[in-house]
Amino acid sequence: MSNRPIALYDSGVGGLSVLQAVSRRLPNEALLYVGDNARVPYGGRPTEQIIDFNREIIDFCVAQGAKIIVAACNTSSALALPQLRSQSPVPHYGTVNVGARQAEPFKRVAILATEATVRSHAYRDALVAGNRWTEVMELACPTFVPMVEQGEVEGDHAYDVVSAAVAPLLAFAPEAVILGCTHYPHLRPLIQLALGPRVQLIDPAMQVADDVANFLETCGLLSTQADPSRRFFTSGSPQQFRGLAEQFLGESVGLVWPTTLEVLPLATTA
Ligand code: DGL
Repeated sequence: MSNRPIALYDSGVGGLSVLQAVSRRLPNEALLYVGDNARVPYGGRPTEQIIDFNREIIDFCVAQGAKIIVAACNTSSALALPQLRSQSPVPHYGTVNVGARQAEPFKRVAILATEATVRSHAYRDALVAGNRWTEVMELACPTFVPMVEQGEVEGDHAYDVVSAAVAPLLAFAPEAVILGCTHYPHLRPLIQLALGPRVQLIDPAMQVADDVANFLETCGLLSTQADPSRRFFTSGSPQQFRGLAEQFLGESVGLVWPTTLEVLPLATTA
């Protein structure tokens, strides 16, 4: 048994979709969330910078007493986890292998993700390793994250942006589409509308929550707290984070703590 928190992190508010799944699956667990909103988006950044940011956040989560860390960020999972996982002092979970596993039964799979995730081909490689007959198309949607970070997830303008971004998928006619960035589930209804009702959308969040639950159970690390704490940290504006978190989670999140993760300028992709 352990009452230490599960830590989840993302470049911004996207990972709240994973936090929600973990909180529903594991209601007795204390949760800690770090949004690196001062440096969002990660998707246009070079790999080394993404790894550095992840290292800082992992150190922060460990210092906060996390018993397990979840990269609720596909870009971090794709580019930083392969290098950092073995150095992490606590177990470290990601989203990419989970999402790829869920898509294995399908023959034609599209992956919507950030530019960095697409550049890594992490999803494609994981998918093909599981089912070498799968046809894969990867598509970067760099317009989605800034829109979600502004809380714009519905309305005509948001739909126009989404349908223009996913239009290249229509000729490929995928059976399933992986929402390979944790910001994208916030746009799920618009993506579904643009692609049509027959396309199966895959959000790895629930399966990530199941995997974390199974791991904690197997290791005897589940918490039994009746009223576990939930703490939110952001490197950006706590007020703005709170507004978005309450919009996406549909409940009050209380105090949001500022955290001073080093702020670096946005660099161009190497
Ligand atoms: N939500 C993140 C992901 O899953 C990062 C998006 C970004 O910052 O570009 O990839």
